[in-house]
Amino acid sequence: MPIDVLLGLQWGDEGKGKVVDTFTPHYDVVARFQGGPNAGHTIVFNGKKYVLHLIPSGIFHEDTVCLVGNGVVIDPITLKREIETLEATGEQIRGKLRISQRAHLILPTHKLLDAASEQAKGDQKIGSTLRGIGPTYMDKTGRNGLRVGDLLSDEFEDRYKALVTKHKKMLDQFYQFEYDLSEIEPQFLEAVEFLKGLQLINSESFINQELKAGKKILAEGAQGTLLDIEFGSYPFVTSSNTTTSGACVGLGVPPSSIGRVFGIFKAYCTRVGSGPFPTELNDEVGEEIRKAGSEFGATTGRPRRTGWIDLPLLKYAVQLNGVTDLIMTKADVLSIKDEIMVCTAYKTDEGLTQDIPFEQENAVPVYEPHKGWGVDVTEVRSKENLPQELKDYIKYLEGYLEVPITFVSVGPDREQIMEMHALEV
Ligand code: GDP
Ligand code: IMO
Ligand code: MG
Repeated sequence: MPIDVLLGLQWGDEGKGKVVDTFTPHYDVVARFQGGPNAGHTIVFNGKKYVLHLIPSGIFHEDTVCLVGNGVVIDPITLKREIETLEATGEQIRGKLRISQRAHLILPTHKLLDAASEQAKGDQKIGSTLRGIGPTYMDKTGRNGLRVGDLLSDEFEDRYKALVTKHKKMLDQFYQFEYDLSEIEPQFLEAVEFLKGLQLINSESFINQELKAGKKILAEGAQGTLLDIEFGSYPFVTSSNTTTSGACVGLGVPPSSIGRVFGIFKAYCTRVGSGPFPTELNDEVGEEIRKAGSEFGATTGRPRRTGWIDLPLLKYAVQLNGVTDLIMTKADVLSIKDEIMVCTAYKTDEGLTQDIPFEQENAVPVYEPHKGWGVDVTEVRSKENLPQELKDYIKYLEGYLEVPITFVSVGPDREQIMEMHALEV
């Protein structure tokens, strides 16, 4: 059985959590492969809302194993809190959860370094979630990091202290950055003990055995393609590979094992944090969309920037990931507009282009207007009952992107989704 991948095609928050939860009954294993607690994946069912940061979004289904893969960076404090909060609501988490021994640990000092770095950047700050993601991946690639498997070593404490000493020296280099580790360090050490009690496994071996046994596996992306360290709007990106190839290195599976690639996008665009956003709406329309779509960050609560859909960027993302199936979310939100704009190209000094410019800051979008559907679609559950204007919008997007839109989501609840083409997984 191949491994399917589900990931975001924009700047994150496309609705990955909701759709992974909906798809989970078709899978035996759901695995996160990159990112860390910078992610906030929302799942809504039975009138309750859950936000997951490190636990894969398949966790609410009894028979599915959830794996946090080697490519993920783990903050033990966040993981402990997340497990305890969910278990307090009666969910059974620990039995279903596996953690890769190769996943790197986020230390309290990584979070401080993140904050110090952002403060030093001033106007040029990335708008990081300040969860310590960048500094942890820096230690990983710099070959200084600590991994989950290291927790079981007698030398862990010494190695932890050595790394903290190094980080403190780095923190001293920052101008006017003050910090206090006295409260968070004991919390971290307590969480580390908790983490040791979880199922810490050789995940690449586990996942390959599952593949061989014919089990169905879904790899769940975090962030989005336009935040990819390689292909996003650098330096306003995250520090991991958010694209399909990230699933291979983040889980230890060969490229030949990848099956379907589900690419999720919103019917419009949002971005949280700094960086270029060619179709951003800094006006009352942007505000209306933010309000209608409840566009506030699931991790930091920050208002998300909003704008029209950007098809050149979406096509770029489709190509980078080898998307086989598109999933459009938040179609219901655009019901508020009678007319919808779609960016189809950029204006440059050399003329019109659909290529992504190296400097996206100066990309001037060219728009095509589309008739809106103007009616509430949140109760629609079959494609036949969608308004004609929405069907036309979907058809138009499929034509431009050259990939079928397999699912359309019309609300946050697990039930608010419909299949557009027969899906066989
Ligand atoms: P993720 O990071 O990709 O998992 O997405 P987030 O959970 O950060 O943000 C998506 C938000 O949109 C959450 O509040 C979801 O509950 C909500 N959502 C998901 N799909 C839909 C949809 O089709 N319509 C509406 N109105 N909300 C949705
Ligand atoms: P999910 O998985 C949206 C953004 C931050 C910032 C940049 C770098 O919920 O889609 P980092 O904390 O990684 O150093 O931040 O990336 N960012 C996200 N934006 N959704 C996310 O995750 C994000 N994770 C990071 O806002 O601009
Ligand atoms: Mg999110």
